[in-house]
Amino acid sequence: MSKYLLSNSSIYIDGTNIPKNKFNITDAKFLTTLEKNLLDESYMKYSSELNSKTILNKTYFMNLHKKTFKSLYDFAGVYRDVNMSKGESQFCLAQCLHGESSRIFKELAGDNYLADAKDDKALFAKKLAYYQGELIALHPFCELNGRITRLYCDMLALFNGFKPIDYSHAIDNGAYIDASIACVQYGDVSLLEKIIYEGLGR
Ligand SMILES: Nc1ncnc2c1ncn2[C@@H]1O[C@H](COP(=O)(O)OP(=O)(O)OP(=O)(O)O)[C@@H](O)[C@H]1O
Ligand SMILES: [Mg+2]
Repeated sequence: MSKYLLSNSSIYIDGTNIPKNKFNITDAKFLTTLEKNLLDESYMKYSSELNSKTILNKTYFMNLHKKTFKSLYDFAGVYRDVNMSKGESQFCLAQCLHGESSRIFKELAGDNYLADAKDDKALFAKKLAYYQGELIALHPFCELNGRITRLYCDMLALFNGFKPIDYSHAIDNGAYIDASIACVQYGDVSLLEKIIYEGLGR
């Protein structure tokens, strides 16, 4: 769990980077394990429920965060009302989150949720990198943006006949963060596209 700059309020327990939670857990390791279990459950639930009629829109995206983490966090599924940055990266301003997010998901609907690119792995990786980069720059929730963004993109991959994307090397060696920085600070999704292409399979 990382530290954010919050403009006026904090979701963290004072003096820590542990999010306030419904069970008043203060053990970071235990909380991480709980989060992992909840995320694993959601992977099973959402991949088994996915079908050709599923609409992967903004509501679906917000519900992923809400339904995955509502047993643990009050901020589950709620867009933040404070501005946030990490390092030198400033994420979308809080006041623009809903508008920007609607724009992204409208564009994705116009792109048929990438169905038109499903037969071309390189094109699919390029398009998915663009949308994932947009969601990384949006960073709409107080916490757990990375995990929910990747879960959402895995559902887009499954929806189009691919397997969930393997980001493990890129996450372990820091390449995923470098790619995120390139997206947020320079609008450059090429590093992310490479990670997605390498982790994508049928
Ligand atoms: N310095 C940075 N600049 C731009 N984006 C960043 C930076 N550091 C992290 N990110 C992005 O923010 C995400 C982490 O956000 P958050 O902590 O809300 O999610 P998480 O699920 O808890 O984290 P993680 O993705 O590390 O599991 C990363 O996955 C990455 O995409
Ligand atoms: Mg985090």
